[in-house]
Amino acid sequence: MKILVIGGGGREHALAWKCAQSPRVSEVIVAPGNAGTAREHKLRNVPIGVEQLEELADLAAAEGVAFTLVGPEVPLVAGIVDLFEARGLRCFGPSKAAAQLEGSKAFTKAFLERHGIPTAGYCKFTRATFDRDWLAAQPTPIVVKASGLAAGKGVIIAQTASEAVEAAESMLDGRFGNAGDEIVIEEFLEGEEATFIVMCDGKHALPMATSQDHKRLRDGDQGPNTGGMGAYSPAPVVTPMVHERVMREVIEPTLSGLARDGMPFKGFLYAGLMIDAAGRPKVIEYNVRFGDPETQPVMMRLKSDFTVLIEAALDGALEGVKAEWDPRAALGVVIAAEGYPDEPRKGDVIDGLDSVGALPGKLFHAGTANKDGKVVTSGGRVFCAVGLGGTVKAAQREAYALVDVVSFKGGQYRRDIGHRAIARDGGP
Ligand code: AMP
Ligand code: GLY
Repeated sequence: MKILVIGGGGREHALAWKCAQSPRVSEVIVAPGNAGTAREHKLRNVPIGVEQLEELADLAAAEGVAFTLVGPEVPLVAGIVDLFEARGLRCFGPSKAAAQLEGSKAFTKAFLERHGIPTAGYCKFTRATFDRDWLAAQPTPIVVKASGLAAGKGVIIAQTASEAVEAAESMLDGRFGNAGDEIVIEEFLEGEEATFIVMCDGKHALPMATSQDHKRLRDGDQGPNTGGMGAYSPAPVVTPMVHERVMREVIEPTLSGLARDGMPFKGFLYAGLMIDAAGRPKVIEYNVRFGDPETQPVMMRLKSDFTVLIEAALDGALEGVKAEWDPRAALGVVIAAEGYPDEPRKGDVIDGLDSVGALPGKLFHAGTANKDGKVVTSGGRVFCAVGLGGTVKAAQREAYALVDVVSFKGGQYRRDIGHRAIARDGGP
């Protein structure tokens, strides 16, 4: 069978690569893909962008794909699944209504509150209702968020009242475009973050392996927030006890709440969690898709046939289904372009790709393109190099060995991906 994967980042490279490993799959079409998917066995790129919903549906119909898998949030929030379904095409992801969980933080906060799901206390404002004096009087640190989609960058953790007021004003003044027409001000949560992604069929949830990403640009979790500079799986903070609590206190009430609200969730539900010292989870955010870069290490560990799991979810038949995971740890290091996250430089020639095949691990492409017979940079996050190992440290070693062989002008990456897990393992 053929499958269509929508997107062109590292996440989509990993999703398409995993689907292609199924013996049932003859071809995975990737739209638009990148230079990595262009050279991968059984994958074929088609140059249609993620916002061209009608053209994507035409492609799925013309190619007779068994199903479409949507990587990024933008087409989901725009209603791609509703459009495909109206045309009788199978598309794995949430409806436009359910995708509001990612598209609007104000919607999500109200949903969590209504269904008694643990999260940080909050207030929301528009330009008309913004109360500067109230904000200036709040304890710090305090978190200021643009409500709409801002590619993971619309969150400011303000250390002082004046920083908070300035962040709120700049968002309301359009720093993130329409995404900041409404803002959410949130209590600062202490603890350790984890990514908890489940595959959903509308009613039931099949947990994917846990993971943890590194959002900050620089070593030691310093610098601005990014889409993610690296990730590893599993997340040691999610002990079996925490896992059970997350399913019971977060995932199950979310799925039943959405169903009760008339928008049952199909697709990948990504809970960004803060786990406190007592092992209590709180929801920081929901995404309605797989994470990037979490997908890359998580897919490295998946041993089951991914396409069988997705078809079970599309059929509403996930109950009792289990996924098999490689017990080893996987760790991915993102190599980003100079200027990322604000203004990444593009068009630099990438060297060293021919040496990659000789090494263990997997180099997933993200912002890469083919130009005049060369591979060049074309986006903020350029690669995610993933290693596997018996410990996080061993996985880290394998990942950085891959990082060392590729180079381009101005490439930047963190040298400490996995530091929290490695500290837990008991050694640097
Ligand atoms: P979000 O886009 O909502 O996931 O926020 C991006 C990042 O900001 C999160 O991954 C956290 O690291 C941090 N963050 C967001 N909200 C809070 C909060 N209430 N308390 C502490 N950190 C937060
Ligand atoms: N790594 C965070 C995200 O995918 O939103």
